[in-house]
Amino acid sequence: MRSTKEIWEREYSGKNIPSSVSSRPSRSLPIFLDFLRSKNIKPGGKIIEPGCGRGRNGLYMAKLGFDVFGLDIASNALGEFKERADVQGIAPRVHLYNTPISKKLPFPDKFFDIGVDIEAFFRLVTKNDIYTYRKEIYRVLKDGAYLLQYQLHPGDGYYKSVLRDPSKSDDGIAVFQDKNETRGRLYTTTQLKYLFSGFFAPRMSRTLEFQDITYDIMYGMPYRRKLSLVIFQKIPHRPPRARP
Ligand SMILES: C[S@@+](CC[C@H](N)C(=O)[O-])C[C@H]1O[C@@H](n2cnc3c(N)ncnc32)[C@H](O)[C@@H]1O
Repeated sequence: MRSTKEIWEREYSGKNIPSSVSSRPSRSLPIFLDFLRSKNIKPGGKIIEPGCGRGRNGLYMAKLGFDVFGLDIASNALGEFKERADVQGIAPRVHLYNTPISKKLPFPDKFFDIGVDIEAFFRLVTKNDIYTYRKEIYRVLKDGAYLLQYQLHPGDGYYKSVLRDPSKSDDGIAVFQDKNETRGRLYTTTQLKYLFSGFFAPRMSRTLEFQDITYDIMYGMPYRRKLSLVIFQKIPHRPPRARP
């Protein structure tokens, strides 16, 4: 059986899913950046971007003046991210880590001003990985920091065809994509809020659907994309909670 690292490095060598191919920033970013502006947050702070891939989002944020710390398990994706940062002259604001997002993160407590997770958290499948990610992202963000979560929805045109185990709806629905062996869980905004409750308070949430077939093509097939967007804010002192 291939490791998660091998599976993702193979995906980036072949490039079949939209985020592996696209250089356009995610459609969630303008929404999040508008939200930050409405809170008077100006570029310049430190952003953690778990599962940053080839940098379509990180490069955009670094160009605006943020310091971007991108983490990814796929070294070839990070290599492309680095190259593009060099070419675009923004390498000093791009810091890349070839490290899993489901283990202890290599940063001190309260190091980051902002978190941006675009289609990475949903790739974690086991409860252990999910809860470690939640604990760690909470630890490394400053009190009151905003965290964007933008993850695939169970009604997504592509992923709903590869659903596994729909009964486990409290924790998102598991998917396994046979074509490239990647795994994940699909979440509604309600499920994301439930998972992060006690750690983060939701400040904005939207379910987004797109019909732009020139953008959303996977394995040669256009499909209707559906995603859950929640902007969370870190709750400074985590109250005790009953479930793990
Ligand atoms: C769907 S891609 C999204 C990439 C990027 N956020 C974007 O929007 O272009 C998911 C990314 O998560 C990374 N990834 C998956 N599991 C991971 C893990 N356990 N630790 C770190 N990165 C992981 C993959 O290598 C991949 O780059």
